[in-house]
Amino acid sequence: MKKLKFQSQAGMNDILPEDQKYFKKVYEVVSEIADFYGFSKIETPILENADLFTTATGTATDIVKKQMYSFRTKSGDFLTLRPEGTPGIIRAYIEHGMQNLPHPVKLWYFGPFFRYERPQSGRYRQFHQFGFEVIGEKGAVVDAQIIQIFYNILKELKLKSLIIEINSIGDSQCRPYYKKLLSNYFRNRESSLCVECRRRLKENVLRILDCKEEKCQPVKADAPQILDHLCEECRLHFKEVLEFLDEVEIPYRLNPYLVRGLDYYTKTIFEIFSISEKQDQDSKEKELALGGGGRYDKLVKILGGKDMPASGGAVGIERVVSLLKNQDVRFKEENKVSVFIAQLGNLAKRKSLKLMDGFRKMNIKVAESFGKDSLKAQLNRADRIGAKYSLIIGQQESLDNTVIIRDMKTGKQNIVKFEKVLEEIKRLLKNK
Ligand code: HAM
Repeated sequence: MKKLKFQSQAGMNDILPEDQKYFKKVYEVVSEIADFYGFSKIETPILENADLFTTATGTATDIVKKQMYSFRTKSGDFLTLRPEGTPGIIRAYIEHGMQNLPHPVKLWYFGPFFRYERPQSGRYRQFHQFGFEVIGEKGAVVDAQIIQIFYNILKELKLKSLIIEINSIGDSQCRPYYKKLLSNYFRNRESSLCVECRRRLKENVLRILDCKEEKCQPVKADAPQILDHLCEECRLHFKEVLEFLDEVEIPYRLNPYLVRGLDYYTKTIFEIFSISEKQDQDSKEKELALGGGGRYDKLVKILGGKDMPASGGAVGIERVVSLLKNQDVRFKEENKVSVFIAQLGNLAKRKSLKLMDGFRKMNIKVAESFGKDSLKAQLNRADRIGAKYSLIIGQQESLDNTVIIRDMKTGKQNIVKFEKVLEEIKRLLKNK
């Protein structure tokens, strides 16, 4: 095929009209549920100071090391296209005095994010997330509620076979000791690790636990597990989260290898999968989480705010949309076109514009084909889009100040006065 003069960037997709209904539906469900749970919407800029992500997401993470789109502006600022939402939200929370509001402060967001990853199915360089963050609440119930919110949204979207994978990665009291234990364990078995994990051993030992390489699996299997090494506070917190999840019957399974690729987490971390997707996987790459999140009790302080606990998560919208398509989820088509206006001649076009305005005010959806002058072509289109009635305004009708109403199912036609047509259609649609 001849190369086009311009093409979209690899991993950056156009969301075409036929896919808009999925994005719209996701937005509607998310905003309704956010509203129900008392979250306020926030939008932060797509560009932020690069240091925000280095500080919050973490210097040793893949996101910061490999995946950021960063550039220097004309005035010398070093900016990054946001790879995730949490740092920007917390920056905004601190910057706009939200620390003085009654807590918890509950925020949600929906928008594009950018990561320079190898593009493949489910992994893009521009993708969309919706997310929820609760700031100022340290109780386990909040972690469970966030999981419940994501679960409810995905359920409401009619996605099947959802499962939460959950773990705790402790806090500054117990994690350092566990990391030391883990380092000792892996150091003694370094030759059995893949190249990448040998590097992780020096920089970020926890990440060895979620390595997918065949070679590392046997070594991982016998590694010490964090749940056996949590301090009392973290152990109790985690136990409570699980009890809350049991209470609301959310299916979860403990995954001792779950560590997440962001540095700010403390205690609870989770990811959401659809198991049908996991089962028919033929490659490891298919094992993609729909969403993930966790508690991050230190981040507000790290970014210059007060010592404030927080918890949150985000879901990848492209992955949700792809699952909606795979699972053949259909939504009720709202507001289908009820009326088609067919016209011949300029006078008829003028009357059509007036009619359309009337229908808009009555919230009745109409369509027209002003570009077509053949009545047959216009009625064909009315048929194709499933209009219930066509209004025909030919030259004669324009002069007589009348309109022909054609029932598209039966083909029956009757003539009404132009002034009466809106009312008549309203009546007919009501009786349909
Ligand atoms: P994350 O796990 O990096 O967490 O991303 C959340 C979700 O975004 C993923 O589960 C996935 O569905 C989607 N996602 C991530 N990268 C891509 C990609 N390259 N292409 C398509 N989808 C992708 C966060 O971003 C955290 N900020 C979540 C959070 C909020 N934690 C606490 N609060």
